[in-house]
Amino acid sequence: MITDLIHRERLAHLPTPLEFLQRFSAHLGGPRIWMKRDDCTGLAGGGNKTRKLEYLVAAARAEGADTLVTFGALQSNHARQTAAAAAKAGFSCVLILTRRVRWQSTTYESGGNLLLDRVLGADVRIANDPAESQEILGTLQREAQENGRQLYVIPTGGSSPVGALGYARCAEELDHDFRVNDLNVAAVMHATSSTGTQAGLLAGFSATGSNHKVIGINVSEADGAALEGSIRALSNETGALLDAPPVGADSVHVLHEYMGEDYGIPTAEGRAAIELLARTEGILLDPVYSGKGMSGLIDRVRQGTFDADSDVVFIHTGGGPTLSVYDNAFGST
Ligand SMILES: Cc1ncc(COP(=O)(O)O)c(C=O)c1O
Repeated sequence: MITDLIHRERLAHLPTPLEFLQRFSAHLGGPRIWMKRDDCTGLAGGGNKTRKLEYLVAAARAEGADTLVTFGALQSNHARQTAAAAAKAGFSCVLILTRRVRWQSTTYESGGNLLLDRVLGADVRIANDPAESQEILGTLQREAQENGRQLYVIPTGGSSPVGALGYARCAEELDHDFRVNDLNVAAVMHATSSTGTQAGLLAGFSATGSNHKVIGINVSEADGAALEGSIRALSNETGALLDAPPVGADSVHVLHEYMGEDYGIPTAEGRAAIELLARTEGILLDPVYSGKGMSGLIDRVRQGTFDADSDVVFIHTGGGPTLSVYDNAFGST
C-alpha cells in the first residue's frame, strides 16, 4: 500500500468489513447499497477517527510528545477516540470540549461520549465558546512549559494532512474491496464535517489512480462553499505526502441540504434513516453524522440519481455512542 510508506501505530481493526445491505437495498429498490463498517474500527466504540489517530499518534511519538490535546463539541466522537488512543498508546490526554450544540436532554452533558471520555481517563475541560477553548489551550501550553511536558495538539476532528492519511489508507482498502466484490461503483458517500475523511479519500483515490466519485453529506457547516474549499485544500496537502496528483474543484462533491437546522440538531429524515437501517439490517447510525448522511443517500436513491445496476457505498463513520443522549429525539417508538 502507498500509505504504508508513512509510519502509523496500529490502533484500529483493519481492514474493516464491506457489507452488502441486502434488505435495505431491496427496501429502497434502487442500486445495490454497500456499507464500509468504519463503526467497527474497534477502539472504545469505533468510528472514523481511529484511522486518523493511527498516523497522528505516530507523529506525536516522533515529536517526543507525552500528552495528546484535542478539541470538539461536548459529544465529540473524535474526542472519545482520542482519549482511547492515548490510553492504548501510553499518552496523557486533555480534551477541550465546547458547548456548541443547542440540543438538550437529561444526559447530554453527562452521558454518551462524555461518560466514555471520563472512563477512558481523559482530563476533560469544558468551554462555553471557541474563545474560551483557545484560552484553555494557552493555559495548558504555559503549564506544560513550566512542567517539562510536551503536548501534541490535534485539530478538531483530527483533520490535519497527517490525520487525513488514515482515509487515504481507507481508499486503498476500498479499491481492494471493490475489485474482490466486482463492484460497479457509482459513488462513495459519507457524512462530512471537519473534512479529513473526504479529503483523505480523495487523496487516496488520486494516489491509486482509481478516482472514484466521493460524495460528502454536509452535517455541520453553514458556509457550503468554504467547506468545499477546505476539503480540496486538505486533500491536496494530504496527497502531497503521497506524491498523488492534486484534485480539481470538480472532484469535490458535497450535498448541503441534509443538515437541517444546525449541527447536532436531529432531523426527521435522519431519524427515519436511523430507524430504517436498524430495522432492515440491525445496524445503528447516529443523529448527528451517519443518520443525516444516510438520509442524503436515501433521498438521492429515491430521486433516481443512481443507475439500478450500480453499487453505492456508504461509509459508516460511527457515532453510535451518542444515540442514548438523543433519547428524546425518538419519541416513544
Ligand atoms: C460519526 C462521525 N461521522 C462523520 C464525521 C465527519 O468526519 P470528518 O470530520 O472527517 O469530516 C465525524 C466527525 O466528527 C463523526 O464523528
